[in-house]
Amino acid sequence: MNFNTILFAVENNIATITINRADKMNALNADVINDISDALDHIMSNADIRSAVITGAGGKAFVAGADISEFPTLDSKGGEALSTLGHDKLFSKIENCSKPVVAAVNGFALGGGCELAMACHFRIASENAKFGQPEVNLGLIPGYGGTQRLVQLIGKGKAMELCLTAHLIDANEAKELGLVNYVCTSETLLEHTYKILSTINTKAPLALAKIITCINAANVNTGFAVETKLFGECFDTADKNEGVDAFLNKRKAEFKGA
Ligand code: COA
Repeated sequence: MNFNTILFAVENNIATITINRADKMNALNADVINDISDALDHIMSNADIRSAVITGAGGKAFVAGADISEFPTLDSKGGEALSTLGHDKLFSKIENCSKPVVAAVNGFALGGGCELAMACHFRIASENAKFGQPEVNLGLIPGYGGTQRLVQLIGKGKAMELCLTAHLIDANEAKELGLVNYVCTSETLLEHTYKILSTINTKAPLALAKIITCINAANVNTGFAVETKLFGECFDTADKNEGVDAFLNKRKAEFKGA
């Protein structure tokens, strides 16, 4: 398969998707979302592939968020559409994939990157990984399920704190909170991930698919729609324009609450 923004390889019945925009910290733009979505379709329709890993190229970032350079021209309708499309094409698709998908988090997993890792069935991190939902620094909120999956994984109080402060946490704190299952060195991250998936790959595929469906069913909620609507609303604010402009021009934002 040929992709522009990801590398795709299959070995020992495990597909590896490597997001390949290292110069932009693997930020998720429309092309990346489409490529991963197509790769997931291939994974789901190919019986030789039993499970998958998502990781980032370059060693510095897993994914540093949605691509902020796509934000300046978006209004509330555009913001809402961005969130909806992301859910449909990528985040819900991963969560509901009938084959196990694991995030091998090898650096910054911020905003949409943390959300991407959380949409995966579980997460393994390298020691240099950093997690957070810093959207509030841009006058925004998480828009790809972060306010919902973070609560599910680490509980309401810590989810509130991370989203409200934009603080980043390191791999060990993420493990203490239950956001990641294991912390490895950068060198052993993929090896460890493949080892776990090799065990999973010996199990009954139909039963695995049903386990994924059942565990997801424990967390059905209506919060995703609320998040999408309010994420969109942020795009009509002056604070979003200020926050995004400040990031793109490498300066500190001054928010006015408007
Ligand atoms: N969207 C678009 N571009 C991004 C990006 C994003 N989410 N994250 C990083 N980049 C780009 C930077 O603009 C920079 O591009 P440039 O070289 O053309 O200037 C490049 O990636 C390298 O990032 P830089 O900020 O210079 O690296 P750093 O090591 O100083 O900082 C981060 C790394 C991840 C801490 C910082 O890039 C960051 O805070 N990114 C945004 C995180 C965020 O707010 N995510 C939520 C988005 S909704």
